[in-house]
Amino acid sequence: MLTTEDKIQNSITRVFKAVFPNTTNHYDTLFGGTAMQYMDEVAFITATRFSRQKMVTVSSDKIDFKKPIPHGTIIELIGKVTYLGTTSLKVRVDIFIEQMYDDSREKAITGEFTFVAIGDDKRAVKIV
Ligand SMILES: CC(C)(COP(=O)(O)OP(=O)(O)OC[C@H]1O[C@@H](n2cnc3c(N)ncnc32)[C@H](O)[C@@H]1OP(=O)(O)O)[C@@H](O)C(=O)NCCC(=O)NCCS
Repeated sequence: MLTTEDKIQNSITRVFKAVFPNTTNHYDTLFGGTAMQYMDEVAFITATRFSRQKMVTVSSDKIDFKKPIPHGTIIELIGKVTYLGTTSLKVRVDIFIEQMYDDSREKAITGEFTFVAIGDDKRAVKIV
């Protein structure tokens, strides 16, 4: 029987992407809306892997864009469950920038998303 902590650890979700020019804005940095789409997707995968139930996004909390993400870099998105309620849970997603040709790495964006488990009638159900 897995504990909640086991499920949190097992559901940590890491996704890498290359920042190609089709994802950037006119400053040659990753477009904020694209970053938020990536984050919501990783948060959704994390929530689903944690619960193995149908999950929907009900809210996004503050998203901090600390560093611009230049094209020609690699980003890693990491999703982790940070709070478990009755029918809802929260997932924090951090985005790190990695340079392609050296080992440097820094955090660029962080944000939190709330998901609710729903049943076939689309109403909230307990996360089991
Ligand atoms: C998700 C949904 C079914 C919840 O319905 P609801 O009537 O608000 O449900 P409840 O009031 O019973 O709240 C359910 C849980 O969500 C939490 N919640 C609701 N609105 C919230 C918000 N804005 N922020 C944070 N948590 C919220 C409640 O605190 C509760 O958590 P708990 O059970 O862990 O204590 C409904 O809001 C919905 O269908 N929203 C649209 C979802 C969607 O289409 N998302 C985009 C595509 S995935």
